[in-house]
Amino acid sequence: MEKKQNRQPWWESGIIYQIYPRSYQDTNDDGIGDLQGIIRHLDYLKWLGIDAVWISPVFTSPMADFGYDISDYKGIDPIFGTFADFEKLLEEAHKRELKLIIDLVPNHTSDQHPWFLEAKSDRNHPKRDWYIWRDPGPDQTPPNNWLSVFGGSAWEWDAQTQQYYYHAFLKEQPDLNWRNPEVQEAMQDVIRFWLEKGVDGFRVDVMWHMIKDQLFRDNPRKPDTDPASLFYDDFLPVYSTDQPEVHDVVRDMRLLMEEFGDRVLIGEIYLPIDRLVAYYGKENKGAHLPFNFQLLTIDWDANLIANMISQYEGAIPAGGWPNWVLGNHDQPRIASRVGLPQARIAAMLLLTLRGTPTIYYGDEIGMTDVAIPDSEMVDPQGIRFPDLYKSRDPARTPMQWDDSENAGFSLAKPWLRLADNYPEVNVRTQKKTPGSMLQLYRKLIHRRQQEPALQSGSYQPVFADEQLFAYVREHGTGSRFLMVLNLTHRPARFSPPHFHWNGIIEISTLANREGEKINSEALTLNGDEGLIIRLLDS
Ligand code: GLC
Repeated sequence: MEKKQNRQPWWESGIIYQIYPRSYQDTNDDGIGDLQGIIRHLDYLKWLGIDAVWISPVFTSPMADFGYDISDYKGIDPIFGTFADFEKLLEEAHKRELKLIIDLVPNHTSDQHPWFLEAKSDRNHPKRDWYIWRDPGPDQTPPNNWLSVFGGSAWEWDAQTQQYYYHAFLKEQPDLNWRNPEVQEAMQDVIRFWLEKGVDGFRVDVMWHMIKDQLFRDNPRKPDTDPASLFYDDFLPVYSTDQPEVHDVVRDMRLLMEEFGDRVLIGEIYLPIDRLVAYYGKENKGAHLPFNFQLLTIDWDANLIANMISQYEGAIPAGGWPNWVLGNHDQPRIASRVGLPQARIAAMLLLTLRGTPTIYYGDEIGMTDVAIPDSEMVDPQGIRFPDLYKSRDPARTPMQWDDSENAGFSLAKPWLRLADNYPEVNVRTQKKTPGSMLQLYRKLIHRRQQEPALQSGSYQPVFADEQLFAYVREHGTGSRFLMVLNLTHRPARFSPPHFHWNGIIEISTLANREGEKINSEALTLNGDEGLIIRLLDS
């Protein structure tokens, strides 16, 4: 019999950790994190056990959207350091066998990018068509009803050349015209540049936005919305996003990446599951990992989560590999969303499901959202929606390293205020505290890395009700695990009628049950308890 080859690519077997560079570690006392700061903590990341680091943008930028407005795709912004610092980071990461994934922001540039300055200078400039320009509608009105994700019309009037340009986000972030082959070539050149430098992959910003309807048709309004409202969420963006031709663009990126071997293409995509999975591409020539954000917004309910996982598992095309995300720099932190005790259950879920997990920096110590007073708010999305409190600042606060001033993040005043809880909630303290969130994360990470069943085994849902959710992960080598998670604060009894088993508790989100032998006769869980049980042959 042929020997089974089951070596998975690193981005399937590994665990990704997202760093928001502004907030990780400041080393030059300006209150803003930098590349040297990331280098300083690579040993910590190694200790934690993750495999790959994704860093949010560190490229040259006027920082209107904190680096998601790039004015030079090949330059490092001085706020974060020098190009040599970047090369050093790459070298130091690789020395430790850590992969480095960078952000690619192909949908839009900064309005200060030379491409845009040229395009804007003259209607007849050869680069005019690199961006999306349209004539006004009647009475100078915008060309259609498309709205910016950050509020208001997505069209900005340019008085000098008497046309509107399109920006899905800020007016300082004009969208590139991806239907123009020159734009595609220019971005391929950027991709090649970084791959040649040695980066291990890209997280592609707003991948589903890249192509817009060729006819620029109006987006339909959702039923039951105020007919005068100008909120992005009151419309269905069926013409401004997720167009069929976007998959050709993604395919070209994938093919280019394949020339370089073992690299990963990740897509940021906020879409329902059925639309999301299309980004694996025809014959799996799309993104390796279209980011799966289901856990970011779903109500914390065992039944709902169990069903969503089955739906996602069922939707992934043959050959596609799943992935799970619990937090990022645009969303409330998990510990604030579900509370600290349930954040431990969430960690167990993230690290025992089938698919590559992505951990957001600070979640491993249970960092919470920090209330930022209006006067200190800096996120443009928050500033534009003060009443809705849409600010993303609360989830972007400095990493809490220790109990010294500014949590060890910086000697200067940090760019965003720190959580008051840092004297207790920090890496140094939790490293020493048995049962801390950090210890739990580390244990879960290491267990996942050691057990083929958890890393690459099959997923079988076993049971869900209004409290509990249980599933089995199994690998041909004989390792088999049962996860039983209590998603409520109340104790619960686990006795599924059709599932007979016995096993040993290996990890509990609470204390003191490890090593306990149990079987299907009776298993009671405490409130907020999650268990990883090694199944034994019965
Ligand atoms: C993505 C980024 C977000 C940014 C937006 C515009 O959603 O994650 O931070 O504001 O794109 O680039």
